[in-house]
Amino acid sequence: MSSAALQDVDPAPGGDAGWPRREPVAGVPAPGLVQCWRIVVSSLDPADLGGLSQDLDPLEHARAGRFHRFEDRRRFIAGRVGIRRLLSAALGSAPVLSSDGFGKPFCADRSVEFNISHSGDVVLVALAAGFQVGIDVERQDPISDMAATWRRNFHPGEVAELDRLDKDEALFGFLRCWTRKEAVSKALGVGLSMALDSFQVSTRAGEPPRLLTLPPDMDTRWSLRDLHPAAGYTAAFAAPVQDLTITCATLDLGNGRRGRP
Ligand SMILES: CC(C)(COP(=O)(O)OP(=O)(O)OC[C@H]1O[C@@H](n2cnc3c(N)ncnc32)[C@H](O)[C@@H]1OP(=O)(O)O)[C@@H](O)C(=O)NCCC(=O)NCCS
Repeated sequence: MSSAALQDVDPAPGGDAGWPRREPVAGVPAPGLVQCWRIVVSSLDPADLGGLSQDLDPLEHARAGRFHRFEDRRRFIAGRVGIRRLLSAALGSAPVLSSDGFGKPFCADRSVEFNISHSGDVVLVALAAGFQVGIDVERQDPISDMAATWRRNFHPGEVAELDRLDKDEALFGFLRCWTRKEAVSKALGVGLSMALDSFQVSTRAGEPPRLLTLPPDMDTRWSLRDLHPAAGYTAAFAAPVQDLTITCATLDLGNGRRGRP
């Protein structure tokens, strides 16, 4: 299947419509094209995990075994098996994965870059060639001390916006801001070791996702997009390049069973 066959849409919130089921795409992603993939982990039962684990390398296998909770182990295995299948198709051979000093996994053959995020029943993977990518998904669960968290960690401009929100909007505002910031920090490869108040993303509801303020050493040409993988989830994608086409699809790892995120 060619990359062009994937749907180029900003998927509608909550539906499968924007994330059609697809097979992994053969060949390295074309310049300027980002593949975003969704894996619905509730489609995977314990028997599936045993089979899928055989795709992991020894380090991943050991890590999977250290998760005490089935849900955590399932999300990890789904992400790593998912990225291995996508990279195998893209590269035409089994990928060798390593991770850098901040823990960001990468493909030893740097011809394809990727990033993974998991929350609840959803794993998201972004894949591109020639530039770094960052992705983040969060299930919209209540968060204790949320206002204290944004006041302590976020940029003053973001804090001012979030402080204006009423109680019903606060969680969505916080997650909108959080996922955009985390996607940027994951594209940079530093994750939450980056001072989250050192840059500002747009935060107001309805405002397009944008980087508003950047640290002096950061390139200004970024793409920032919201993603809508399922009802009840907030997600964002970021990359330090502009003029990207983002395609979204669902990767099925679970013998054709359909999970419900
Ligand atoms: C990356 C980070 C933000 C992830 O936070 P999270 O919200 O708990 O988790 P998410 O599900 O969104 O993302 C996890 C995935 O991000 C990827 N990842 C890990 N470290 C990363 C980094 N520094 N940059 C980008 N992506 C990273 C991994 O694929 C990981 O999943 P996997 O290990 O199952 O493959 C957080 O772990 C972090 O800040 N790490 C860096 C901090 C650091 O300094 N680490 C050094 C010790 S290794």
